[in-house]
Amino acid sequence: MCGIVGYCGARRASEILLEGLRRLEYRGYDSAGLCVPEDRRLRIFKKCGRIRDLRRIVPDTLTATSGIGHTRWATHGEVTDENAHPHADCGGDLAVVHNGIIENYSVLKAKLESEGHSFRSTTDSEVIAHLISSFYDGDLERAVKDATPLLKGTYGIVCIHRAEPGRLVGARNGSPLVLGVGDGEVFLASDVTAVLAHTKQVVYLEDGEIVSVSADEYRTTDPSDRPVEKKIEHIGWELEEIEKGGFPTFMEKEIFEQPRSIERALRGRLDRTNATAHLGGLNLSGKQLLDIERVKIVATGTSYHAGLVGTYLLESISRIPCTAELSSEVRYRNPIVERNTLYFVLSQSGETADTLYALRELKRKVATVLGICNVVGSTIARESDGGVYIHSGPEIAVASTKAFTSQLSVLYLFSLLMGRMRHLSFEQGAEVLERLEETPELVAKALDQHAHIRSLARKYSGARDFLFLGRGVNYPVALEGALKLKEISYIHAEGYSAAEIKHGPIALINETTPSMFLVPNDRLRDKIISNMKEVKARQGKVIAVVADGDEEIGEIADDVITVPNTHRLMYPFLMVVPLQLFSYYCARELGRNVDQPRNLAKSVTVE
Ligand code: AGP
Repeated sequence: MCGIVGYCGARRASEILLEGLRRLEYRGYDSAGLCVPEDRRLRIFKKCGRIRDLRRIVPDTLTATSGIGHTRWATHGEVTDENAHPHADCGGDLAVVHNGIIENYSVLKAKLESEGHSFRSTTDSEVIAHLISSFYDGDLERAVKDATPLLKGTYGIVCIHRAEPGRLVGARNGSPLVLGVGDGEVFLASDVTAVLAHTKQVVYLEDGEIVSVSADEYRTTDPSDRPVEKKIEHIGWELEEIEKGGFPTFMEKEIFEQPRSIERALRGRLDRTNATAHLGGLNLSGKQLLDIERVKIVATGTSYHAGLVGTYLLESISRIPCTAELSSEVRYRNPIVERNTLYFVLSQSGETADTLYALRELKRKVATVLGICNVVGSTIARESDGGVYIHSGPEIAVASTKAFTSQLSVLYLFSLLMGRMRHLSFEQGAEVLERLEETPELVAKALDQHAHIRSLARKYSGARDFLFLGRGVNYPVALEGALKLKEISYIHAEGYSAAEIKHGPIALINETTPSMFLVPNDRLRDKIISNMKEVKARQGKVIAVVADGDEEIGEIADDVITVPNTHRLMYPFLMVVPLQLFSYYCARELGRNVDQPRNLAKSVTVE
């Protein structure tokens, strides 16, 4: 959602804060700001726009060696300079940056105003600065501890006071906050990408914890003000993984990275000796796994689409009933948790509020919930009963691509593991393993079509509406293709089961509404061809994604994209690639900001 950075050390804070905010810009980027203490007062610089716009107004004469910074994705209050963070108290003595939503800010604001506080912005966050200030009596850490229990909602905050220029105080409740421990310097940030250039030693704060930092020490306490010993963890990522590596955008880099990211998801998990999968971290015994009678997958967005594919995999490969549900729906439907049911929450960021709150509701009902996440140490990963990391590497572009195919990889592995415990023979298990092992190479072949797909993007990027159609295990891929096109090119797109088009959506078809059909070489191929002909009969333009060698479809479709032949259950890996590339190139054609599309954030940590 929003990006937060704090620094205490010996180097110029303003430069470190600006660089850290640049790396967090994918989290939210409608306005930004920073605050540093100079000559016993706080200097705050903030404005609408991108980090580069903020850099222009920050003097390079600043010498402060501590400070806080923020890049915003607006939730309360318009995008204005005043509403940008940091927010200060009345006297400008104290400043705070905040990620999250304060649900009781109106009540707090009214009380503070009645006590004489005057507000400059229309945000919920500003109330935090005034509230902490109302408790300040020479000790910032104490004031934060006294103020934060009154806050209802979610927050990750870092604050600074002009009377304690070498100290920062951070607090976390529902929004991530991580400490970076360097040599004679300490960092605070919303996520590790902001600190990775300086240190790989990090400490993850838990909800309710407060941390007080100076250049050479940090102190963590729990809500009861008891000291908490925190483990220093080592980040496994390299800096270049969060750089573009020669690609024009992070999204293009991440699309083309998929052969390798799938390999990483599979690495060490293929048990060829027993023709099964090895998944450490499930925290379930073989007996407990054998007792599972149904699986429910909970997620949002692209992760939900991966979960939908997972339902086909689990039911086909392991013959276990499986459903997928939207996190936001699960949380508020008073879910019925049955015995012998295993829940998976899928989340690339591991911080999505809808999924985190669904997880917490399920755990309140004593459900067994496993997390499939990408970000190690993320909140969802830590609050799950166990789980599997997808090891996709940092996914920086807001539009999720490589995480999707890595999530599929893990879902395949789990389906194989459960299938082999049940009805799959050794030979059948070995076959599934073989299909998985060849997938990175097949995905690489699908990527080879990029020039042709780019030409189609040039041809079709003028469309105002688009339909994506698939059946069976590729129906969720059609949904994913529509989401990709919508979120990065801003072209309206809808995904449907191809059979469903005749039950209404075909009314949309005319010569200006193209349809993308996913037509793998499987038993539904002829049915999909009938659906295509229904569209062609109404002057609809058709792009067909087909298996290599399928010549017949070329006579029906206006344009064809090919992917390698594979097993029917492997097509989601291959069919999603042209959809990712098509959406990407359409967005480039239209001059969109592909890595940071308008109105979006990489991790939606608010409901
Ligand atoms: C996907 O391209 C979108 N950025 C969005 O739908 C995303 O998948 C969704 O917000 C879930 O994020 P998560 O996987 O980090 O929970």
